Amino acid sequence: MPASSTVTVDVHLDERDLRAALERDVRAGLGASPKHIPPTWFYDEEGSRLFEEITRLPEYYPTRAERALLERHAGDVATLAGADSLVELGAGSCEKTRLLLDALASSSPLSNYVPFDVSADFLCDAAGSIAEEYPGLRVHAVVGDFLAHLDRIPTEGRRLVAFLGGTIGNLAPAQRARFLGDVRATMSRTDSLLLGTDVVKDRRRIVAAYDDSAGVTARFNRNVLSVVNHALGANFAPERFEHVVRWDERAQWIEMRLRATQPETVDIEHLDMTVTFDDGEELRTEISAKFTPEGIADELARAGFAVDRQWGADEGEFLLTLAHPDR
Ligand code: SAH
Ligand code: AVI
Repeated sequence: MPASSTVTVDVHLDERDLRAALERDVRAGLGASPKHIPPTWFYDEEGSRLFEEITRLPEYYPTRAERALLERHAGDVATLAGADSLVELGAGSCEKTRLLLDALASSSPLSNYVPFDVSADFLCDAAGSIAEEYPGLRVHAVVGDFLAHLDRIPTEGRRLVAFLGGTIGNLAPAQRARFLGDVRATMSRTDSLLLGTDVVKDRRRIVAAYDDSAGVTARFNRNVLSVVNHALGANFAPERFEHVVRWDERAQWIEMRLRATQPETVDIEHLDMTVTFDDGEELRTEISAKFTPEGIADELARAGFAVDRQWGADEGEFLLTLAHPDR
């Protein structure tokens, strides 16, 4: 009989904390000009499900490209990292994780898997499935905000910290620098970081990935208004906001926005706040930055990492970078 696996769940963000953080972000972001809201709030149960649907769209190449790189190179990653624990930030459905878990387990004994995500229900389901599939593996799920709770991640073993999917591109440059520095501060000299980043390419291909013909990304985008409605008693009419995608050539990032198709007055009951939108006014909901291999190596160096290896640098579709703390 195989050894049974265990799942533990640490919650550093409960319903109350989440609500307080959303209140803070909505007050600041919808009170600002131009209006904005952080992409973290996309991922309630429905948003996480819609993101999974996005990953299967013909136009959305990043997930397939990253999976192909992992299929080809997870063995090299495992050999270079020599880790017995895998920590995964923004783990989501943990779908591509299995490729890393298999490679790590076949190169040395694998003890722990620590998926970390803000989306509690989705994380718990995914962690449960991994535990069933990998008997003997300790699965220690952590519910938290990777911009605030990195210091709560268990430090036992020699760790590979994976941040996949290109999610680092959803952070603004200053936030990204601080985040990488914070990740570095939680790591010991023998740990490694595996970073997945989308790569600058033909802008039409990038724009299509965020403006799919089936309208799934538009639903994902508008879902953030439903999140605010449910959590804070707001009365947004999501269908009266248009999905807008723009490539910013100078910043090298995609911006997703929601544009009011008529003048709107929105009451946010729990905040005692009224927000008005002019006809055509936009709310920025996400940036998704695209990188070059040199740019990523540079940002990692500034945060105290040395690059071991990059995969995908020649093909130009997506990039996996393995790095370790250099001091
Ligand atoms: N890594 C997966 C999922 C990417 S989607 C993949 O490559 O397919 C982005 C994930 O990051 C979501 O699961 C979302 O819930 C999580 N996330 C977004 N902002 C977060 C934050 N501030 N802290 C923790 N998790 C966050
Ligand atoms: C999670 N993140 C890397 C996705 C991205 O591509 O920026 C989120 C997403 N937004 C629209 N489509 C997918």
